[in-house]
Amino acid sequence: MEVLIVDTPEEAAAFAASAVLDGLRAYGTGNPVLGLATGSSPLGLYAELAAAAQRGEVDFSAARGFALDEYVGLDDTHEQSYRQTLIREVCNVIGLPESGLNVPNGNGETVAQIAEQAAAYDEAIKAAGGVDVQILGIGANGHLGFNEPASSLRSRTRIKRLASQTREDNARFFDGLDQVPTHCVTQGLGTVQEAGRLVLIATGSHKAEAIAAAVEGPLSASCPGSVLQLHPDAVVVLDEAAASRLK
Ligand code: F6R
Repeated sequence: MEVLIVDTPEEAAAFAASAVLDGLRAYGTGNPVLGLATGSSPLGLYAELAAAAQRGEVDFSAARGFALDEYVGLDDTHEQSYRQTLIREVCNVIGLPESGLNVPNGNGETVAQIAEQAAAYDEAIKAAGGVDVQILGIGANGHLGFNEPASSLRSRTRIKRLASQTREDNARFFDGLDQVPTHCVTQGLGTVQEAGRLVLIATGSHKAEAIAAAVEGPLSASCPGSVLQLHPDAVVVLDEAAASRLK
């Protein structure tokens, strides 16, 4: 694992974007295939990718994106669904066409149907030739995607219950905690690890403990982020605050 520590969140975004572009050159076999995280952490990185596209260093106009996760039970036109969030915060920013955006389907008549759709999502990633570079954030509790602590390190895309901490963290996007879905469909930790390169960005002291556990702690389902230790090409980009608990 390569750990880069820089002074500010802005520098972290720039370094993480370079790591993504290098990864696309190293693992891409045609048009880029990106694994996409939502959340605050990668917003600066997406802005840097947009700037790189404007400079002509990369072209996302025929790229495909695979979201890490989606809520269960939110219509995909709901403004807080991750499909709509990624259209706003990624597609419209970096120029990735909506037709190239894939998001797990969190809607279905039955749990079994959602589970089938989740398995089909892993197949769709394979059919696209795999993800070249997976962009990641990390939860304050160490979650990766919506793989909460105690998730299997080899898990595949599936339905998960959201931890209460995660629902509370995300309540700011909804009209109250009771509006936050209780379940999600998330790429599994095994799915995530199949990407060519992983680029995780974390900034701020509220991520320091999770980063210390993920980078220097034991490989453990208690900290899903620790699976990065297993990956042959994982890049972790931190500002000083997020790195403050590293030894
Ligand atoms: C988002 C995701 C989550 C976030 C994590 C950090 O698709 O899968 O794992 O990366 O919750 O969120 P932020 O960046 O908002 O602190």
